[in-house]
This record gives sequence, C-alpha cells and structure tokens, in this order.
Amino acid sequence: MPDITFVKPALPRSGALVLLLAEGAALAGLAKAAEEATGGAVSRGLEAAKFKGTKGQSCTLWAPSAGLAKIVAIGLGKADALDAQGAENAGGSAQVAVQQEREAVIAADGLTPTLAASVAMGARLRSYRFDRYRTTEKEEDKPKLERIAIASAEATKAKAAFAPMQAIADGVFLTRDLVSEPPNVLTPTEMAERCKALEKLGVEVDIIGPREMKRLGFGALLGVAQGSAQEPRMVTMKWMGAPKGKKQKPLAFIGKGVTFDTGGISIKPAGGMEDMKWDMAGAGTVIGLMAALAGRKAKADVIGMVGLVENMPSATAQRPGDVVKSYSGQTVEIINTDAEGRLVLADVMWYCQEKYDPRFMVDLATLTGAIIIALGHERAGLFSNDDTLATHVKEAGSAVGEKAWRMPLGDAYDKQIKSDIADMKNVGGRPGGSITAAQFIQRFVNGKPWAHLDIAGTAWSSKDAPTVPKGATAYGVRMLDRMVADHYEG
Ligand code: BES
Ligand code: MN
Ligand code: ZN
Repeated sequence: MPDITFVKPALPRSGALVLLLAEGAALAGLAKAAEEATGGAVSRGLEAAKFKGTKGQSCTLWAPSAGLAKIVAIGLGKADALDAQGAENAGGSAQVAVQQEREAVIAADGLTPTLAASVAMGARLRSYRFDRYRTTEKEEDKPKLERIAIASAEATKAKAAFAPMQAIADGVFLTRDLVSEPPNVLTPTEMAERCKALEKLGVEVDIIGPREMKRLGFGALLGVAQGSAQEPRMVTMKWMGAPKGKKQKPLAFIGKGVTFDTGGISIKPAGGMEDMKWDMAGAGTVIGLMAALAGRKAKADVIGMVGLVENMPSATAQRPGDVVKSYSGQTVEIINTDAEGRLVLADVMWYCQEKYDPRFMVDLATLTGAIIIALGHERAGLFSNDDTLATHVKEAGSAVGEKAWRMPLGDAYDKQIKSDIADMKNVGGRPGGSITAAQFIQRFVNGKPWAHLDIAGTAWSSKDAPTVPKGATAYGVRMLDRMVADHYEG
C-alpha cells in the first residue's frame, strides 16, 4: 500500500504525473506547467488521443520528458458537477494507472482541499490487494508504487480532511482482509482473536464461548455450531466516544459471522461452495466499522456484536426436524439447516437488547441467495420497522456509493414461517425468501428501531470498480460510518 502525502504543487522529475482534467477546461496550474516543460507534448497528446475530459476517460503519454516515465490524464467530467464520489473514482483510476511506477504525483491543485482528500481516498481504497498466500508471483506483476503525493495549493487543509478518511479506509481494509481469508485460517476462534486487535484503538473487546452461551441459553446459535469441530464465539466491541454530558443509549451493529457455510445436513451443492468462506461478511463489516469509528474517534457510543460459527454436517450436526429454544425463549423448528444465519442473529440480537438497551439495531448478513435474484449485485436489501432509520441508512449509502433498496415486511409474509410444532420455523418457502428471512429476524426485535441489510449480493464482487477491486468489497463499512457521522454524533 503506497504512502500518501500532501504537497504544494510542483512538477515531479521522475515517476508518474497524473493530471485531473475537467471537461472542456483549459490547461492550468500543474497541467500548464507540464505542458510548458514538455514543449507542448501534453496538449498534442491529448488532442491525438481525442481526450475531452469526460468522466472516466483517460490517456497516457509515455516518457513525455527526460526522467518522467509517464503523464496520465484522467477525465473528471463537468467541473461544476464534480462531487466526492467523482473525485474518489478519479483517484482510484489514478492508482491503477501509476501502480507500476515507484512514485507518483497527482495534480489536485485545481480542486478544493476536501475533493483533493477524496482523490487520495479513492487511490487508497483501490490500492487494496490480498496477496498473503501468493508465494510465486513474478516481481514484474506486483505493484511497485511506494509513494503518492497529492499536489494541492492547500496541502495542509487537504491533509487534515484526509485524516478521518484514512481511518475509514483502514476499517475497510480490515473488513476486506477478514472476508478474503480462507475458512481454514479464519475460524470463529481466529476471527474473535482478530477482534482483539481493536483494543489498541481504544475499543473494549469481550469474547464468550460455548460454555457461557449454554449457560445463557443460546439454543439457536448453538444448534448451528454443534456440527462443527470449531467452537463458536460471540464478540462484543464497545466504542464509547460520546462526550461526557452528551451520553445517550448506544447504537448497535450486529453481524452474521458464519466462517464457512456448507449448509449443514441440508448440504449445499459442490459448485461454488467455496464462496461460502465469505458468509462471515456481515460480522467482518461490523468489525471494520468499529475500527473506522474508533480510528477517527467518532463522538458516539457504539456497540458492535458478532456471532461467529461454522455450519458443518457431521454426526453431531443439527437435523431438519429439530426444535431449538432461542435465548429469547421462543422455539424454532429447523426445516432447513442451511437457513442458519437467522438462527445466529436471533440470539445475538436478543442478547444485545437485553444487555445494552440500544437506541437502534442495524444487522448485516449474507442471509439469502434470494436477495441476489431480487436486486442483483447492485444494491443490498434493506428491511426496517422504522422509516427514519431506514432513510438514514439508505441516504448514507447513496452518499458513499453503497446502495440499498428498501424491501417490504408484513403479517402476510410472517405467516409463511408459522410452524405446527414450535413458535416458528426457520424457512418460509421459496416465495419472497429474503422477506421471510427478515420476518424471522424481526421476531427477535423487542420493540427497538431496527434495520436489516441483506448483503449476500454486495459483499463480494467479481469485477473491478474504480475504488473497489474485485473480491471482498467491505460493503456497509463506509455506509454505516457515514450514517453515524451524519446523524448520531455531537
Ligand atoms: N449464506 C447463505 C446465503 C447466501 C447465498 C449468501 C449465496 C451468499 C451467496 C445462507 O445461509 C443460505 O444458505 N440461505 C439459503 C436459505 C434457504 C435455505 C431458505 C438460501 O438462500 O438458499
Ligand atoms: Mn446457509
Ligand atoms: Zn449462510
């Protein structure tokens, strides 16, 4: 990951120079200086490449002057329409364009300091790589970039604006690391261990295991865990950042952390089963979110809770037909052992409410394949019993490019999970599969404002996006950090 610094505008003598050019704008500042230093090569090159500065357009001039390896021009679109997301995307494209050089200067001298910081954020987010397990990658294939200097007339201001963004990017990277790890490495115990790293940021971390869960009566979560040789864990992370005298009830974020989901006795087909290593993305997102909030010292009291289990078939696994008693006291008939995420969330959410009496709860879970059928990979499913909370979640997501779409809830759907033998069953049939899953979770909401994000379609991506390389997306970290910042601080 390259170091990012903020410097006064000056032409580099080596490495790469990135020019961020708005549509139809004349060359100015560093771009004009580069034009003069190269004897007009910049304008000649841009013209020959038919570069207009439209959004996403880019053009490379190789060896434009002695010493300099390349100048890359990146289009920003219309100058007056440039927003934070546009600046981040340009930064992401810049990162990709220069990553084979050791050093790069990005000329953000035409931008406000805040937008210059967003360019840096985009470059940082796109620089992510998970290469821990590659031992034979060729040197020439590895990125070389060591330093990015963002050139800004107000470098000090830009640097200050970037500081909280960097903490958020650290949280995003933590989530991406957790979600990318293979399931033989990232077991529930290992994942709980990694939560402990947040202590150095001032987060209080509390871990419980199966004995304590049994004592409490976590029958729903333990039923999922019982087929695995790996012990389950529940981790509570507390960030108490609200200033004294401004204390309110804490905000609560809860994540599904199934470190591998075979489906259990209702076993999944073999094709694509390896994807189920990222069935802990909800939990991974909560952990990264807590790191982001603590890292930027958010002025809010926030509880993050994750339920960590592995769903395996074995002689000790739970069966379809079993009835389990959840921590809430409600009983559940297990129809399909592959509908396990909701069982894990049920106990963690009830416990969260009993113990912390939160102002609201937001849960995140790679809960249903059905949400991918409904919304594809573009938007997460958002379910809520509270219009204000739902709006806060959705709008924060739009502001950072993590989109969600509100889905319905209601009694008619709830009827689908009625059981003949217990208080409910754990599946409601194929129609509206994501909605009946949300209805199940809602039965464990005890009068609190609540929102549920089904991130099965958005947690992992098979294609590169400007600020999100393919793989683990960390969807939700930026959204929920932004929601806290916009509505629940100060
Ligand atoms: N983890 C899966 C959901 C999932 C599917 C996430 C695809 C990411 C990609 C979940 O535990 C599951 O298996 N859900 C079942 C529910 C069904 C048995 C009612 C599903 O969606 O098929
Ligand atoms: Mn499952
Ligand atoms: Zn699952």
